Amino acid sequence: MEKQRWGIRKLVLVPCPFQGHINPMLQLGTLLHANGFSITVAHTKFNFPNPENHPDFTFLPIPDALFDRGITSSIDLTDIISCLNVSCKAPLKNSLAQIMESEKENHGGGQKLPCVIYDGSMYFAEAVAHELELPSIMLRTTNASTLLTYYSFPQLQKEGYIPLQDGMSLALVPGLYPLRFKDLPLANFKNLDILLQLMARTSDIRSSSAVICNTLDCLEKSSLAKLQEQCKVPVFPIGPLHTIVPSSSSSLLKEDRSCIEWLNKQSHNSVLYVSLGSIASMNQNELREMAKGLTSSRQPFLWVLRPGSLLPEDFDESIGEKGLIVKWAPQKEVLAHKAVGGFWSHCGWNSTLESICAGVAMICQPCFGDQTVNARLVSHVWKVGFEVDNNLVSIEIEKAIRRLMLDVEGQELRHRVISLKKKIELCTQEGASFCNSLSELRKCILSC
Ligand code: UDX
Repeated sequence: MEKQRWGIRKLVLVPCPFQGHINPMLQLGTLLHANGFSITVAHTKFNFPNPENHPDFTFLPIPDALFDRGITSSIDLTDIISCLNVSCKAPLKNSLAQIMESEKENHGGGQKLPCVIYDGSMYFAEAVAHELELPSIMLRTTNASTLLTYYSFPQLQKEGYIPLQDGMSLALVPGLYPLRFKDLPLANFKNLDILLQLMARTSDIRSSSAVICNTLDCLEKSSLAKLQEQCKVPVFPIGPLHTIVPSSSSSLLKEDRSCIEWLNKQSHNSVLYVSLGSIASMNQNELREMAKGLTSSRQPFLWVLRPGSLLPEDFDESIGEKGLIVKWAPQKEVLAHKAVGGFWSHCGWNSTLESICAGVAMICQPCFGDQTVNARLVSHVWKVGFEVDNNLVSIEIEKAIRRLMLDVEGQELRHRVISLKKKIELCTQEGASFCNSLSELRKCILSC
């Protein structure tokens, strides 16, 4: 990629402290650093990436009150997000004011003001930037289709579709084709009103100058066009971020690299990779059924079970023969490995992009949030995977695995995902739509 230097403008990144949000924000930071910007990462004390892996960035810790308020063990993300948005505001404002002061001293007022790039979930950062008269840009780590659902909720509520009505789960949502009501990102949160308020707030652009989306035209052309109509500011599809710049790992957990040696011994396209990302998990019963289904499928598998997920003891031995279980994998490398022939995924947006870009077809088991939207796109629009229900019994799990790994349908899905991967490669090449988008984003950052 052509490297341009325009004088160093400071960008202050404010990531949301979850793995699926930290990764794309730091990848964006790497891309912008490679294009001449200086990067400061303002991060919470909860879940922060290892600064040693990013020697080109400055790290600025922002105190949060999660631990004091006993919220770190909460499984309800809305509690965590709400708490961060209240408790981090004053500390970020102090830190930014100090940065502005030292920029003034060092450059005598000749330097452009820092620009804040914040995760949509960390909306306090926009408020702080506005109060300090700093420019800001929102990063959406989800895709355009998901963001469109957030903007439709007030109308759907007004028309009586939300809360979801009985018997409507398979009906198409007006204006959001091909999403069905069951695909809306509303599942598994304890309080619908709070969730809707939070979604409205996280997607409210307010004073921001632009929106960056980790997606690309050739995946979401019509949703991006609708999103651009909806937003009053430019929307830049800058994705898939993980393929664009080689960036260092921002894993919060240690990657177990032994799985690569194990994959080296497996035959081509034979292994099913199983991971539900960094937040979703299975209960004891689901774990037991999954373990049984995996072993009875007789297909080799690599299964990520994060610390805290304990398999029933009696399954340890039978699993050892055909599969490998790790606590955290180098996922992008795993998906790129020639032995991997399928991905049993929760369809987090990063995992979905990583799978498609590696040409790996998917079994989609969405759990909450945007995962249901992503699963619908994977199975119905791009047709590179199929969806299964939650709470499956082992025999259904075994059937789904055989369907993907051994049946003709699986082969067709693999052909389709490989052609989609090639299409994405063309889209991100020099001179293609991604480069235009990046160059517009550069101009926008420099002018705001
Ligand atoms: C969350 C939501 O679940 C997701 O839907 C939303 O889009 C972002 O926030 P998460 O559950 O973490 O994300 O899923 P995902 O978006 O797929 O991100 C997980 C990241 O962790 C991926 O980049 C993946 O490569 C990485 N990962 C996962 C590993 O590096 N190793 C693993 O073992 C598992």
